[in-house]
Amino acid sequence: MSLAGRRIIVTGASSGLGAATVRHLAGLGAGVLAVARRGDRLERLAHDLADAPGRVVPFRADVTLDVDARAMVAAAAEAFGGVDVLVNNAGSEVQGPIDALSDADFEGMFRANVVSVVVCTRAALGELRVSRGAVINLGSTVVSRPPRGRFGYVASKGAVEAMSRALALDLGRDGIRVNVIRPGIIPSELRGMTEEAERAKLATGVAFGRQALSAVGDARDVAEAVAWLCGAGGRWVTGAVIDVDGGFTLGAADVL
Ligand SMILES: NC(=O)c1ccc[n+]([C@@H]2O[C@H](COP(=O)([O-])OP(=O)(O)OC[C@H]3O[C@@H](n4cnc5c(N)ncnc54)[C@H](OP(=O)(O)O)[C@@H]3O)[C@@H](O)[C@H]2O)c1
Repeated sequence: MSLAGRRIIVTGASSGLGAATVRHLAGLGAGVLAVARRGDRLERLAHDLADAPGRVVPFRADVTLDVDARAMVAAAAEAFGGVDVLVNNAGSEVQGPIDALSDADFEGMFRANVVSVVVCTRAALGELRVSRGAVINLGSTVVSRPPRGRFGYVASKGAVEAMSRALALDLGRDGIRVNVIRPGIIPSELRGMTEEAERAKLATGVAFGRQALSAVGDARDVAEAVAWLCGAGGRWVTGAVIDVDGGFTLGAADVL
């Protein structure tokens, strides 16, 4: 598969799934604007990928701010001549039950996970209308199978999912596709866990009550799904919610 000539913005590119997605898309030949607040990390990523088939341009922005989102889209248009795909991957989580989570943390998650999608998608609309492009939003399988103590994050990702389906309908007239990828449990900074720890859990059988497959999810698994939606394979796919979760939503209940 080649994404040569595709012009893609990836938010939340300074770590985890976003960084892996940038690596994968650049490996397939795409031009990628890599966006986050930690500019040093973006510079390092772009430097690491200097020899990739595609071109990576780092861009520092807070995706919750309209002014930054507009500058981000302008930078992509200037670097690549337009925008074909916006990947709204940036997000954050603060865990806690309803009587412990502060209003500031709850609202912060909605800003990072939901308002960012509105602000960035709106900023990219002009370019996406020209390219008849696509928006890919990162949801989460916790929406279908909520873990305890994470209601605020679950609510924010539920909003992303519902909004994406509504936007798919609204923007379909412009030829713009809007889809959601819902990762399952994948080691990352956001989850505060390492791949080794996760692998160890699976080895002792602890995680089998959680998902169907024993393999640990990898950021690359999500990147592969993003790439498919960016390419010709996704041409007739919109309003879809695609789970990349090792069967987490099946709700394994081996403990019964
Ligand atoms: N890992 C999982 O198991 C999992 C499961 C389901 C869904 N997801 C979703 O997948 C996405 C990526 O998660 P991850 O696991 O890769 O987390 P991560 O490693 O913590 O990465 C989050 C990214 O979002 C960026 N970000 C946060 N707030 C931002 C803001 N205001 N402006 C710009 N960038 C911002 C961070 O960059 P800066 O701090 O440098 O700005 C970072 O690059 C998130 O939407 C998450 O909810 C992850």
